[in-house]
Amino acid sequence: AGFRRYSFVVKESSYKKLCETKNILTVNGKFPGPTIEVHKGETIVVDVYNKGKYNISIHWHGVKQPRNPWTDGPEYITQCPIKPGNKFSQKVIFSDEVGTLWWHAHSDWSRATVHGAIIIYPMPGTSYPFPKPQADVPIIIGEWWKEDILKVLDEFVGSGGQPKDSDAYTINGKPGNLYPCSKRDTFKLKVKQGNTYLLRIINAALNEIHFFGVAKHNLTVVGVDASYTKPLTRDYIVISPGQTMDCLLQANQEPGSYYMAATAYVNGIGISFDNTTTTAILKYKRYFGQSTPTSLPTFPSYNDTSAATNFSFSLRSLNSRLYPISVPSKITKRIISTVSVNVFPCLKYQTCEGPNGTRLAASMNNISFVNPSIDILEAYFYQVNGVFGKSFPSFPPLVFNYTADVIPLELEIPTKGTQVKVIEFNSVMEVVFQGTNQVAGLDHPMHLHGFSFYVVGWGFGNFDEAKDPLDYNLIDPQRRSTIIVPKNGWVAIRFKADNPGVWFLHCHYERHLTWGMETVFIVNSGKLRTERVIPPPPDMPPC
Ligand code: C2O
Ligand code: CU
Repeated sequence: AGFRRYSFVVKESSYKKLCETKNILTVNGKFPGPTIEVHKGETIVVDVYNKGKYNISIHWHGVKQPRNPWTDGPEYITQCPIKPGNKFSQKVIFSDEVGTLWWHAHSDWSRATVHGAIIIYPMPGTSYPFPKPQADVPIIIGEWWKEDILKVLDEFVGSGGQPKDSDAYTINGKPGNLYPCSKRDTFKLKVKQGNTYLLRIINAALNEIHFFGVAKHNLTVVGVDASYTKPLTRDYIVISPGQTMDCLLQANQEPGSYYMAATAYVNGIGISFDNTTTTAILKYKRYFGQSTPTSLPTFPSYNDTSAATNFSFSLRSLNSRLYPISVPSKITKRIISTVSVNVFPCLKYQTCEGPNGTRLAASMNNISFVNPSIDILEAYFYQVNGVFGKSFPSFPPLVFNYTADVIPLELEIPTKGTQVKVIEFNSVMEVVFQGTNQVAGLDHPMHLHGFSFYVVGWGFGNFDEAKDPLDYNLIDPQRRSTIIVPKNGWVAIRFKADNPGVWFLHCHYERHLTWGMETVFIVNSGKLRTERVIPPPPDMPPC
């Protein structure tokens, strides 16, 4: 059929940043990669050519792909990776998403440089629930490593400890003038006084949540993860890897030159991170003064969990007459899952740079996920046995105070496995992510493929099944596909399992994903033809 086609050629390209030149993996030679622009409800086809040296796969983050898990992208979950020299034509089916999403590599750590924005405009002839902005501006927060990213990954996996920090954060691929040799490598936005700009902010960083803001200007959040929100005006935002945020910026200050900036929010003992600041410059038209701004936007301290959490949970769905939502008030099933950083004991031949000579690991309900050798979707569809098990537990392994200071040793060492949760079509699911204080309490940006979910509740400490659900917001909870589980706290989400397929659920911190903080939801097909997974495309990459 006549779908609009994009061509994505994955290949190496040479870039010079922070005074050094290196090759990075790109799409069409661009960093960040090309922007996809669609209208709500459209379907497109992206022809992905792997002209690089290694296997790759591409994921359309936050796009539900109704009944079409085949081209969702995570390697060994819904497909085997695309081998060098091969091509995979990926259909991307947009349904109710509107706002901003993004695409990224979903194999090893290539997403550090292989990513780009997806802009989803309202359907032709319809409008935004806010005054139309004069321009759309994608703002991608990313990172730059002087070292090759696959080498960073290898060293990280080899060491058993923490990964190396990036050498700079970036805005639209540019570190900004506070870094060496980067005066020209600074993103600049020219604005006209009186105009309004829609910043389509994406956090593509691998391992850190960020604060972002513009000096002397407010940001009004109007959407998150491609769902509208009630307008929320703040002088900074908090955005985790995987999340997107649509913010209106009014150029309503004295004509001048102002900094936009992003810094990390990290709160965990012994977690190192890049504590630098990336800048971009907002410059008013017809301002002829000093072009380098003087002051940075002000952010909370890097470990201010209450500021970060307060921001994240102040967001609400728009839920207006024209843009109603329907939050499930009754559930079929509640799953409670711990999200923990753990350790594995050290074996003789290993390097063990984790705490007390261990190797760091991570888990959900104490299962540390292991990628299978052929993808789970094909194994499920063709009923190949022995690829995955169906015993992901619905509850944590033992009832315990997960956020206490001392945690029993039996919870420190998780079980390795490829366990999925099978869910009946159309059941109404609640998933409670329970953070723990094992090894290091930390925030976790949890992301579910194939769905948007309502964030109905959250709290610090341990989830109390008898009490906490009584306080849920079932009126206007924010609708997202990535939510930050606060350090030593919990978050409850709800969604209707109306999208049959195989859907990845994981922490969007790349190091936690590598350590095993993930599982898979298999949503069975319903009885009707329109409730089944569609047939696979003819060119699925062979395993
Ligand atoms: Cu941003 Cu599994 O994805
Ligand atoms: Cu995590």
